[in-house]
Amino acid sequence: MNSITPKTHADPYCDGAVSNSWRQSHQADTGLPNDQAFFQKSFHAPRTPAPERGRRRIDIVSYHRTVPTGRLEAADPKERGAVFTRREVVDFILDLVGYTSDKPLHLMRALEPSFGEGDFLLPAIERLLDAWETDGRPDVHATLANAIVAVELQSGSYTKTRSRLMDLLTSRGIGLTAARRLTASWLVCGDFLLSSIGDGFDFVFGNPPYVRHDLIADVTMAQYRRRYRTITGRADIYVPFIERSLTALNRGGQLGFICSDRWMKNSYGGPLRQFVSEGFHLRFYVDMIGTKAFHKEVVAYPAITVLARQSSGPTRAARRPEIKSKTLSHLAKCLLDANQDSREVEEMLDIVKGNQPWILDDSGERELVRWLEDRFPSLEEVGCKVGIGVTTGADKAFIAQFDALDVEPDRKLPLVMTRDIATGRVAWRGLGVINPFGDDGKLVDLNSYPRLRAYLEEREPAIAGRYIARKSPHKWYRTIDRIDPVLVGRPKLLIPDIKGRAHIVYEDGHLYPHHNLYYIVSDQWDLHALQAVLISGVAQLFVGAYSPRMRGDCLRFQAQYLRRIRVPYWHDVPPSLRTKLIDAGKAKDVKASIRLVARLYGLSARQKAVLAKQCAST
Ligand SMILES: C[S@@+](CC[C@H](N)C(=O)[O-])C[C@H]1O[C@@H](n2cnc3c(N)ncnc32)[C@H](O)[C@@H]1O
Repeated sequence: MNSITPKTHADPYCDGAVSNSWRQSHQADTGLPNDQAFFQKSFHAPRTPAPERGRRRIDIVSYHRTVPTGRLEAADPKERGAVFTRREVVDFILDLVGYTSDKPLHLMRALEPSFGEGDFLLPAIERLLDAWETDGRPDVHATLANAIVAVELQSGSYTKTRSRLMDLLTSRGIGLTAARRLTASWLVCGDFLLSSIGDGFDFVFGNPPYVRHDLIADVTMAQYRRRYRTITGRADIYVPFIERSLTALNRGGQLGFICSDRWMKNSYGGPLRQFVSEGFHLRFYVDMIGTKAFHKEVVAYPAITVLARQSSGPTRAARRPEIKSKTLSHLAKCLLDANQDSREVEEMLDIVKGNQPWILDDSGERELVRWLEDRFPSLEEVGCKVGIGVTTGADKAFIAQFDALDVEPDRKLPLVMTRDIATGRVAWRGLGVINPFGDDGKLVDLNSYPRLRAYLEEREPAIAGRYIARKSPHKWYRTIDRIDPVLVGRPKLLIPDIKGRAHIVYEDGHLYPHHNLYYIVSDQWDLHALQAVLISGVAQLFVGAYSPRMRGDCLRFQAQYLRRIRVPYWHDVPPSLRTKLIDAGKAKDVKASIRLVARLYGLSARQKAVLAKQCAST
């Protein structure tokens, strides 16, 4: 089901007709005659389900129908992922995919899947018209009608772009009637993910929307999930956009998107990476984090990705270029010319490997990670366990000064938080957490713990109001994560989550970690020795390679990335080295750790320098 832009007589360019291709897609979707299909889709769309937990959700399918026109115009652009691209960046991407007017673009086909206010589309059409003029302006409709398909969900943006496009076409000497016909065949107002625009494109370019899946109505999400194999977990909408756009490419066709880079490394991007690895070549990657690529500041981690439907090959990469026409035009030439040796461009091999995260860091780091991965087992294979501290869902109720928690002694645990380890050593501030779980892992019976019952009941509104408590009312007093009290007594390494640099702190077995703190415990490895390995740059190297970068160049030191770290088995570490590693860990001696770790892994001088570089910026 899709929405259709209603006829607007006030619009001087509107000929009152919905684009033909769009009408056809409606008919194809429903199998009904045009008008009946139109009626069904426009007026019998399912009701939007109630928003969950106070968050407004967009029902993209019935978007135009459910949001009154006035509100639609004012709809939060963030919610529909409307961030428009700067002209310099648009030209750069069009150059990279080869959409250049020295080619017979009017004989080729291009797709812009979410054209917004035309910031990508119109410069592309200028190039198309240049190519068509060079060819002597053959019959307008016959030559140009199939050259572009451009889709946009939001009717306000659609209408605005249609006017801009009419202005462009008429300014290039195309008559009003021909311009109207072209516009009607090129522009589609609807949901790209659900429309039937077909395949067979030589180029796809644009800036797909970023809309988190939980902002999309369940009914729409269910339709997306049925159609797209790459949507898993919390996948953002740009993931199926990329899948659909890649499917639309001809053999040899090229896609150029500026888009969030999250999917290249994170878990929800896995199926899309797999999809890419099954038939596409990652030709260019340009890291755009921190650049002014858009018309407004956004909290996003953009990258330009150019993918071609052809067998795999090397990837040419550049990082954070200056957003100036001259700079970008020069960079495009350097990227495109494989024979040109340029300081700005790096060539990388084997970036795309099944669903594996793409390691796009600079080559020394990438090579060292791969080298270690080929030779050493992972942390968990050598007997280390990586976990995360407790999330209670209501810290104010569950956490207080340990001594002031008026419950039975075995119902509370001393808690360590990120602030307690800020100096690099544990300085416990005396907080504790309520533990409603028994040693058997089950919730305790409150009848057996009258003080705990009284404590919890006094705070019942805060505790029982949590989502987890509403879902299972008989377990209303559980913490979100199960607490395993045995962990308190185990020595552990504590690692705070979002940090620019790895911060590894030894805790000798007295405290329970709070959420945002990851921990490593081991019955095999000595934890002081492991601390030396991790502070030598090894943690930074692996997490830097696998974690997406956050604002301020921070990394996520989460379990999934920490588990990627490779170390030898403890029994393979020579006894003399063991003692030295333990001493270096205890002293938090980074220099000694680098030296010892180079021996531990058998690193070359060059590899040791790469490791040291991880710490140099610490
Ligand atoms: C990031 S903006 C990019 C616009 C334009 N390509 C540019 O670069 O300036 C994304 C656009 O996608 C539109 N959009 C959101 N969901 C869509 C969908 N399911 N189908 C088509 N367009 C959609 C939004 O309304 C918004 O205009």
